[in-house]
Parts: sequence; structure tokens; C-alpha cells
Amino acid sequence: MAFLIGDPCVDIKDRTCTSVCPVDCIYEGDRKLYINPAECIDCGACEPVCPVEAIYIEDDVPDELRWAVADNESFFTGVLPGRREPLGETPGGSKATGRIGVDTPYVAALPAAGEVP
Ligand code: F3S
Ligand code: F3S
Repeated sequence: MAFLIGDPCVDIKDRTCTSVCPVDCIYEGDRKLYINPAECIDCGACEPVCPVEAIYIEDDVPDELRWAVADNESFFTGVLPGRREPLGETPGGSKATGRIGVDTPYVAALPAAGEVP
């Protein structure tokens, strides 16, 4: 079980969550951020500070955000567009990796706010 970030974060990226995470396990893509499920210690600190309520605990994800469970994981275990290998199950913290700057194909294809899908 871990916390994860859903699509309310897309194109908002407030980033307050990153300042409260004690293990630095929230990584920045292009349009949203992603919580590493292997590094997250389930402390819950990030969930209440997100101004758009984009953060959920995995067991409590609403049906319309079930996609985000696998999508968050695939950000780390899949090969992201323009990369040759996965970030890895435990990349070692977002300060070490810096901004990743790309999204999963699913998130990259999400319509922008106000755009008709
Ligand atoms: Fe996104 Fe909310 Fe964090 S908008 S960057 S999940 S504080
Ligand atoms: Fe980090 Fe705790 Fe959230 S470990 S991702 S602040 S649940």
C-alpha cells in the first residue's frame, strides 16, 4: 500500500507535497508528480497539504482514479518516452534525480483543463 497522485495534479503541480515528504519519494514529471510506491512510507503527510486534493491512499482511491495506481508504478518501472531504461523501483529520492520532465504515455495524453477530450 502507498499513497498516489491522481489527475487533479495535472498542469497544477503545486509541489507543497514535496516539501513535507520525509523520504523525498515524490518525483516530478512534466505535467504531474508521481509518488514512488516502493519508497513511500505511508506517513500521510502529503495528503492534507495538496490544495487540489490530488493525493489518495491506494486503498481509498475512487473508481475513476483506479488507473492512477498502475500508472504511478509504471512511471518508475516502465521505460518513459525518450528514455532508454526505467527510472527503477527505488531511484533514491527526487533531489538525487532532479526533475524527470516526462510523463507516462497515459498522463501525457490527458486533455488540458478546458480542452474537450
Ligand atoms: Fe500535485 Fe498537489 Fe503535490 S497539485 S504537486 S499533488 S501538492
Ligand atoms: Fe511521502 Fe509520506 Fe506522502 S512518505 S509520499 S509524504 S505518504
